[in-house]
Amino acid sequence: MDAAMVERLSHGEGWALLQALPPYDEAASLPLQQRLRDAGFAPDLVAAALTQSRLRARAVDKFGEFAAGMLFTPDGLEQATRLPLAARHAARYAAAGVRTVHDLGCGVGADAMAFAGLDLAVRAVDADPATAAVAAANLRHWPSASVTCARAEDVRLPAGEAARHLGVWLDPARRVSGIADARGRTKRVFSLDAISPSWADVRRYAAHVPATGAKLSPSLPHGALPAGAEAQWSSWAGEVLECVVWWGPLVHEAGRTAAVCREAGTVVVTEADAAPAAGVPALESLERLGAWLYEADRAVLRAGLGGALVARVDGRELDAGVGYVTSEAAYEVDWARRYRIVAAMPLSTKHLARWLRDHGHDRVTIKKRGVTLDPDVLRRQLKMTGRGRGGSEATLVLTRVAGAQVALVVAPA
Ligand SMILES: C[S@@+](CC[C@H](N)C(=O)[O-])C[C@H]1O[C@@H](n2cnc3c(N)ncnc32)[C@H](O)[C@@H]1O
Repeated sequence: MDAAMVERLSHGEGWALLQALPPYDEAASLPLQQRLRDAGFAPDLVAAALTQSRLRARAVDKFGEFAAGMLFTPDGLEQATRLPLAARHAARYAAAGVRTVHDLGCGVGADAMAFAGLDLAVRAVDADPATAAVAAANLRHWPSASVTCARAEDVRLPAGEAARHLGVWLDPARRVSGIADARGRTKRVFSLDAISPSWADVRRYAAHVPATGAKLSPSLPHGALPAGAEAQWSSWAGEVLECVVWWGPLVHEAGRTAAVCREAGTVVVTEADAAPAAGVPALESLERLGAWLYEADRAVLRAGLGGALVARVDGRELDAGVGYVTSEAAYEVDWARRYRIVAAMPLSTKHLARWLRDHGHDRVTIKKRGVTLDPDVLRRQLKMTGRGRGGSEATLVLTRVAGAQVALVVAPA
């Protein structure tokens, strides 16, 4: 879809057509396309409107009811920030007294909408003409928001007095345009060196405008965190979605933090939470295992804050860096899962298979950390294919204790 088509879709006949479409149904799409053409709509407009309808259906997961009033590009939707996380970004700027945010690479405008929604003026740019046109359509309700098609590098930011109350937001593209995967989506990049605008540019903006934030891949190496900044890894429903680096007045706690976000609310874990556990050695042997096993949310683990769980449950990590913690006591930790340890043994297919058979299991859920084996291969070796009659399911945790591979049978608590 080019910028001209975005224009046609976001006004007059195109918009009316889009808003009149029934809820998206893949099976009904072809006949509907034909009916609309027969009714006199231009074939290219019909095709674009049906693509939007499909993208809107997919976008409900990220944007809820707002999706029905938005436009998307396929890549723009993939890369867009989920609305609750965008709202958290915007809240940092508002709390820091920022009044205008320059969004340098705004995509379809998810973050920009959250800024505007908190009454921040938005100056957004995107280098891609169609994406910038989509963002302009999505920000149409906010007169204090503007979108321009431009490269971030060409934006002249105000200086001196005019820069007071100014913020910069960057969500650099992690995709290589022109190179698509099997599903037609552009290829993702994970290295800091491959993002656009570049990491060097991001740091340059941060040096110029203190209130700068940049959303990066969760694979950000801890060593890349600039001095005095905060890197916050955030998960939504257990999936780590981003690591945002915050500078200046946007920093809440310098260093590494984790935000575990859910519908019910957000819990933040910091290095201070992990500090009491520093120096607690990992478990020496399987015999020292407690009654309970804990697994921290992945954002906490990505932030390298597994020590916070050790401190919280007065426990020990099973082995350095595996992220599983054991304790004798049952604690409620809202950013970790707790399991009762039913059995523990050195990882041997023969022994494990016998134990599972003796206890009436014919299928397994396998969780693993710190061991390299293929769960499907192990499932076949254990003959746990669920084809037996009347057996039950066991949850296996395959990991390490004191450097040796172990298998734990656990029950979610
Ligand atoms: C990850 S997306 C932004 C998503 C956005 N934060 C949202 O939530 O909708 C990155 C965007 O940056 C744009 N971009 C990449 N390099 C750019 C540059 N040098 N200048 C301006 N925009 C750029 C891409 O076209 C893409 O739309």
